Amino acid sequence: MGAKDSNLMEKVISLCKRRGFIYPGSEIYGGLSGIYDYGPLGTELRHNIKQYFWNKFIAEREDVYGMSAAILMPARVWEASGHTELFTDPLVECKICHERIRADQPEAIADHEAGHKKEKVEWTEPVKFNLLVETKLGASEKSKIDVNLRGEITQGVHVNFKNVLDSMHPKIPFGIGQIGKAFRNEITPRDFLFRQREFEQMELQFYVEPKEEEGNKWFEYWKQFAWDWYLGLGFKKESLRLRQHASDERAHYAKDAWDIEFNTPMGWKEAWGIHHRADWDLKRHSEYSNVDLSYFDEERKDRFIPWDIECSGGVDRAVLFVLLEAYTEDELGGEPRTYLKLAKNIAPVRAAVFPLLKNKPELVKKAREVYESLKLEARTKSLAPIVFDDNGNIGKRYRRQDEIGTPYCITIDFDTLDPSTSSGQETVTVRDRDSGEQKRVKISDLKVSII
Ligand code: GAP
Repeated sequence: MGAKDSNLMEKVISLCKRRGFIYPGSEIYGGLSGIYDYGPLGTELRHNIKQYFWNKFIAEREDVYGMSAAILMPARVWEASGHTELFTDPLVECKICHERIRADQPEAIADHEAGHKKEKVEWTEPVKFNLLVETKLGASEKSKIDVNLRGEITQGVHVNFKNVLDSMHPKIPFGIGQIGKAFRNEITPRDFLFRQREFEQMELQFYVEPKEEEGNKWFEYWKQFAWDWYLGLGFKKESLRLRQHASDERAHYAKDAWDIEFNTPMGWKEAWGIHHRADWDLKRHSEYSNVDLSYFDEERKDRFIPWDIECSGGVDRAVLFVLLEAYTEDELGGEPRTYLKLAKNIAPVRAAVFPLLKNKPELVKKAREVYESLKLEARTKSLAPIVFDDNGNIGKRYRRQDEIGTPYCITIDFDTLDPSTSSGQETVTVRDRDSGEQKRVKISDLKVSII
């Protein structure tokens, strides 16, 4: 099965709900369009993706700092960043039912027109609609101030540029990365996690000296880095592509922009952006805040506003694309099965431990021992959880784990209890999710086999 199966999205949405990955937000109250809640397994999957980002873009590097800025920011920040004026989508209104839709989304327009069956739909002229979510802070009407929920997590980094300089004394080039929620009043949220109103981003702002960047050295470096990182989520090379934005497609802050795109059932769609933001943000914040956001190079005795090379990815979009890529239907042992072919570094469960039979206390006792020791190992190595399952027959237990993408199932059977069957060593079976093959492994080697 490829990503082009026309029912793939529906199958993934259904699996997500059924198996505790993702639910519609506040569902028992009728839900909110473009808002989703993560269940137990979705939370683990999302956590693993974020951890992989944090490790590779921040923790393992000497030239990048991590930070975590607030979601609420004064409206003035967004005037400075250009979002108040320019962060807009074109909106049209159906003259029959007054529903508002994005003018630049032909699928949404076609769906809407089809809903009116034989009636001829007429649309209003497009108007610009600003995507920033507004709210107010303060206890009394008089003292209330306008604030925005951040439309991108980026500005939290730029407004702290001087704080990081003054407290950490970094040498250019250096980066600041963070992960956090962003909010956009999307006109037509659609396609499950693809276009939401509340979502999470993982970003790096990498500050470079303009003269050094004339040949696009760091821009090319981060494009490649982001590409390799995205592939590491478990994608086949042919499922992804890199595409440069045309000049009329670029965001207001970008001098150059490339997207990593994924081949979804809705066509090629943006997964990740690499933007050359030049000095747009720091210059504008210097002007609007009256705080000098330049960098002084001590060695060269040179003062300048750095350029910013940005890597920006959606966490939820990565979750969705990983699930679309991993969803597989095949036949195993003559039976149809559904499984998630997830990369083992992001699977929500690392391994499942089973006693072959639930009603044999000696098997259950040994299985519990194995489970406890692996659980401890997984915790110390910050891996996804190990689970214990003795419910139902062994075939069903395998299928349940396959469906959530667990890479390994470990079964404690009667041979485990009788070391004479394997040259005096206690062994268990380890089943591989993708091939369904089982091999006998010494308990003393288990940690190495699955970790
Ligand atoms: N700081 C740059 C920035 O925000 P963007 O291309 O608007 O750039 C970056 O967003 C990433 O955030 C996108 O590549 C996408 O993965 C994710 N994203 C953007 N809007 C989204 C939405 N409405 N729902 C889910 N993810 C979204």
